[in-house]
Amino acid sequence: MSPPVRVELGARSYDVVIGSGVLDRVASFLASAEICPARILLVRDTGVPEAHAQAITDALRAAGLEAHQTTLDPSERAKSLETAERLLGDTARAGLDRHDAVVALGGGITGDVAGFVASAYRRGVRVVQCPTTLLAMVDASVGGKTGVNLALDDGAERLLKNFVGAFHQPSLVVADVATLASLEPRVLRCGLGECIKHALITGDTDLLDWTTSSLDDALAGDAAVLTELVRKNVAVKARLVARDERETDASGGRALLNLGHTFAHAIETIPSLSPDPEDASLAPLMHGEAVALGLAAATALAVDLGRMTGAERDAVLWLIGRAGLPTSVASLPPSDQVARRMLDDKKTLGGRLRLIVPEGLGRAGVLEGVDAGAVGHAIDAIRGP
Ligand SMILES: NC(=O)c1ccc[n+]([C@@H]2O[C@H](COP(=O)([O-])OP(=O)(O)OC[C@H]3O[C@@H](n4cnc5c(N)ncnc54)[C@H](O)[C@@H]3O)[C@@H](O)[C@H]2O)c1
Repeated sequence: MSPPVRVELGARSYDVVIGSGVLDRVASFLASAEICPARILLVRDTGVPEAHAQAITDALRAAGLEAHQTTLDPSERAKSLETAERLLGDTARAGLDRHDAVVALGGGITGDVAGFVASAYRRGVRVVQCPTTLLAMVDASVGGKTGVNLALDDGAERLLKNFVGAFHQPSLVVADVATLASLEPRVLRCGLGECIKHALITGDTDLLDWTTSSLDDALAGDAAVLTELVRKNVAVKARLVARDERETDASGGRALLNLGHTFAHAIETIPSLSPDPEDASLAPLMHGEAVALGLAAATALAVDLGRMTGAERDAVLWLIGRAGLPTSVASLPPSDQVARRMLDDKKTLGGRLRLIVPEGLGRAGVLEGVDAGAVGHAIDAIRGP
């Protein structure tokens, strides 16, 4: 186990415990953080082997807690107010009071929904995040953004990503890299999209160089490399969240974590898009695949705006491809349609796009009111055959 990463937020500070086999010790991590619920509701992602949930509930029961369980079958459609309402009912039926805690065990969808339920139940109970995908470990479980998507039944089948939510920091995060062993390779690769994003915003090229040299071992499931990968990426996120918890710093701060995401959110909700032009059955895109495409579009924009050289862009595209993620997508709608969907992004201010754009390798900045033509070129750059 590597030393925990501390997210420094004054009274809301918390540890992110990272290692292999750490889930069994969740009760002792709670005790050392002086978190003493009498009851917990564990929300288990149905993709997570039952044995992991059992290990947690056994450990908590052995420590004298009353442990209840419910499940969530994750998909962007199920990341909904309806699911949140069902889980709120489960929380009430389990009898949780304001001193108790919701424990999220699963990928980013489960963590986002369970965190939102915890933020709303009786105006807020604790949430403990136990992420079980690489993406949730390096990104979604840390930082306190929780929420659900909003489906608009206005004829355009719009699914507004993460449109309803709350900032609700976890009390503890326990990232057990042993849980990654049961992930589909496609899901493991998705986490690398967010890792590459982090490597492009840290302010230097150290993380990018380390990620490039460690990628193959991470993909092969090397537990020591995965632990280090999670630790390095959580440290990047923890630093930005501590500096700008609610994303109010107009010059960057936490908003840098949205690199590629305005493009990503516009395309990941188009149900027919597949990461592999040869295999339509892989549609829709997963979040990490959409992020990879978003990074490819953002680097194209950066080259267009003179902020990145073609060689730097090629280095990023090479890394995305090496991670087994897409850099282009077939059947993308016309760029004006995609650009319109980008305006649905909740970071849009006054109808003007706010985009995070790379500056060379390892740095990025915020640009407001980017020219529509340049955005169109960036979308066309990821248009596959
Ligand atoms: N809150 C944030 O700051 C933040 C940041 C990034 C992404 N997100 C959100 O995270 C979501 C994507 O998360 P994700 O990539 O983890 O996808 P996901 O939650 O859909 O999980 C992917 C798949 O992996 C399965 N799974 C999870 N753990 C498993 C395990 N240990 N073994 C086998 N299968 C397992 C799940 O059942 C699911 O089928 C998106 O909704 C995105 O918006 C949130």
